[in-house]
Formats: sequence, structure tokens, C-alpha cells
Amino acid sequence: QNIPNDLFTAINELKQELNAVILAHYYQDPDIQDIADYLGDSLGLSQQAAKTDAEVIVFAGVHFMAETAKILNPNKLVLLPDLNAGCSLADSCPPQEFKAFKQAHRDHLVVSYINCTAEIKAMSDIICTSSNAVKIINQIPQQQPIIFAPDRNLGRYVMEQTGRDLVLWQGSCIVHETFSEKKIIQLKLEHPQAEIIAHPECEPSVLRHANYIGSTTALLKYCQISENQEFIVATEPGIIHQMEKAAPQKHFIPAPAINNNCACNECPHMRLNTLEKLYLAMKNKTPEIIIPEDIRLAALKPIQKMLAMS
Ligand code: 13P
Ligand code: SF4
Repeated sequence: QNIPNDLFTAINELKQELNAVILAHYYQDPDIQDIADYLGDSLGLSQQAAKTDAEVIVFAGVHFMAETAKILNPNKLVLLPDLNAGCSLADSCPPQEFKAFKQAHRDHLVVSYINCTAEIKAMSDIICTSSNAVKIINQIPQQQPIIFAPDRNLGRYVMEQTGRDLVLWQGSCIVHETFSEKKIIQLKLEHPQAEIIAHPECEPSVLRHANYIGSTTALLKYCQISENQEFIVATEPGIIHQMEKAAPQKHFIPAPAINNNCACNECPHMRLNTLEKLYLAMKNKTPEIIIPEDIRLAALKPIQKMLAMS
């Protein structure tokens, strides 16, 4: 198929034609971030998906995010530029195994991080994101036992913040577990003034060095309000594009991964989306997200609960 030279203009034209909105996560390529109508973290994106009146949602993110948009908008066309844009964290929680885990903890309420499949959401009582996990757990009565899935690192962080004992599913994100504590310490020695800011999906060995821990949106806000001029950023480096725009005079250093020979701190799933694939998805109105109605309805309830509790 013909790919126009000026993809920005072509995508903007298709947006008008389709009455489409482009929602993008901070971990997308800078070009995609620049063309998005709304850019945000997982909570912000699901809030936007819940309120958009566009007919078509083009989701520049990963599968579970586009799936959440479709769960909230069954009558809209939801496009994901590359259907293979999955998530290692969502994959770490297969539905059959999770069903057995739930059965082994029958009296527990299930709070699931939004980074999971629609099947896992359908088995959950409340969904949360990294922005609201602490707030949501704090709203659940003290005596209620809770399963927290699938991210063990976010789960552990929420346990520390709330003083609650959660039963954790042992999942993790390949991007956030790849940061090297040793190299971050070395970097800090080279940049003694820098503040370390980290996403709660990082391992405890990294989080314990962090001056500030938060979701991608929280990290972006923090580096704007902090008086500090230099930051070591322990999350997917896509966010640095927005940090540099928001605070051009400040210096942002991506936290190094254990392996020197790859861009391991870039999410391989998020980065499958390209401007070209985004254009083709809009042009061809495919690939689209489709969810069986029984799963959609079951997954909708815990998402609505999250939106009400946020
Ligand atoms: P937030 O969007 O909640 O910051 O989570 C980051 C992430 O890993 C998304 O896949
Ligand atoms: Fe999943 Fe991690 Fe990529 Fe986020 S950064 S989409 S949690 S693999």
C-alpha cells in the first residue's frame, strides 16, 4: 500500500474523515505522542476512553489498554495499530492458573492492576492502575482479605504504603525489572545532584534508591515541580520526551538496564506501534479489538468500580 510522505497530514485527514480520536501512552515513540489527541498514563487513558464521543478510538498503546477502551465502548470501533503489541505483565497471569489461585483464596476480594487481559478483569472485583492503587486499597475495609494481581512489585509497594497484607500474584514487567541497581548507583555517583525517580513496577532493589515513586503521569508532574535540575528516570524512556517538553531546562537520564547491548528499557510491545502502522490502521479500519460479550460485561463492572473510586 502507498504510504504518504507526510504521515502527520494524512493521519490528521483520516481523523476528520473517521471522526476518530487518537489516545496514546507515554511509552509510545515521540512521533506518535506528538500526533495524539490525548496522551496519558493508564488511568488517564481509561478516563478519556470512558468519556470520548468520537466514533473511532485509535489506541496507540498495548493490547490490554485498547481492550479496556473497547470494554467501555462496545459500539465504537477500537483500533490498535499492531495487534501483537501485548504486555509481559499481562502474559504473566494466564486465566486458568488465576482461576485456581482465586479458588485457593475464596474469601478474598480481587484487586487487579489494569495491566491484565479482559479475562482476568472479568475475574476481578476492582481494577486499579499505578496512579490509584494505594487510594483504592485504602478504601477497602481493613478486615477484608485481598488478592492483588498481577504485578508483584506494585503489590509490594502498595503493601508498604497502606500497611495492608495482600496476597500477591507473582507477575512482573520485563521492562521495569531490567534496571540495574548497580549501574543506577554508579550513575548517581557521576551525577550526585540528580534525583532518582521510579515507577512502582520496578524491583525493590531499585525502588529503595528512589527519591520519588509514582505512575508515569506522577513522575512527569514531579519533575516539573521539583526544584532539582537533573533526574535519573527509572521507567520506560518514552516518557522523557514529555519531560523534556515540560521542563526543557532540566536534564533527564534514562536509568540503565542490566544488559548493555540492547535498549532493554524500551518496551518491545509498546514500540511495535509506528506512525506508519497507525496510518494504515486508520486507512484500513483494522486491526480492531473484539471481545466476547460475556467477558466484556464481566470485565466492565470492576473497571467502572475503579473509575468511581479514583
Ligand atoms: P502507568 O501508565 O500506570 O504509569 O503504567 C505504566 C505501564 O507500565 C503501562 O504499561
Ligand atoms: Fe507491559 Fe511493562 Fe510494556 Fe507496560 S512497560 S506494556 S507493563 S511490558
